[in-house]
Amino acid sequence: MSLVKIVELPNLGDDRGGLAVIEGGKTIPFDIKRTYYIYGTKQGVSRGFHAHKELKQVAFCVSGRCRLVMDDGLTKKEVWLDSPLRGVQIPAMVWHEMHDFSQDCVLLVLASEYYEESDYIRSYEVFKSHSQLQ
Ligand code: TYD
Repeated sequence: MSLVKIVELPNLGDDRGGLAVIEGGKTIPFDIKRTYYIYGTKQGVSRGFHAHKELKQVAFCVSGRCRLVMDDGLTKKEVWLDSPLRGVQIPAMVWHEMHDFSQDCVLLVLASEYYEESDYIRSYEVFKSHSQLQ
């Protein structure tokens, strides 16, 4: 199964400009309980460096771009998020890192659960040992 699953939004834009619509349970394959966005990231800063035990997420750069690295413990893939119409699914138990944020980057993340620190795996070694058990 491919590690990189893209979510394409229909472009509802017209000659006035762009319009993208996100619907939980429809364009996004889960009900959205939480939305957050990362913006104003300083140059040279990388974020993420964790996996989630249960949480499912979809990430879009609604402005600018960043490079998303995903690792399921066996395979490592990277993808540029650089379109407000093209998101990437970040499933549970996938280590992810975000690098090379452009100055204008707004990274929008849709999440299947409320924030829960105990759902995070923040050590790559712990993640690797958990992922080998699956
Ligand atoms: P963190 O998940 O460490 O950010 P990154 O995307 O770089 O991994 O989150 C930074 C801080 O914000 C951390 O103290 C947890 C807090 N936080 C919340 O309280 N709620 C949230 O929904 C998120 C994503 C983070």
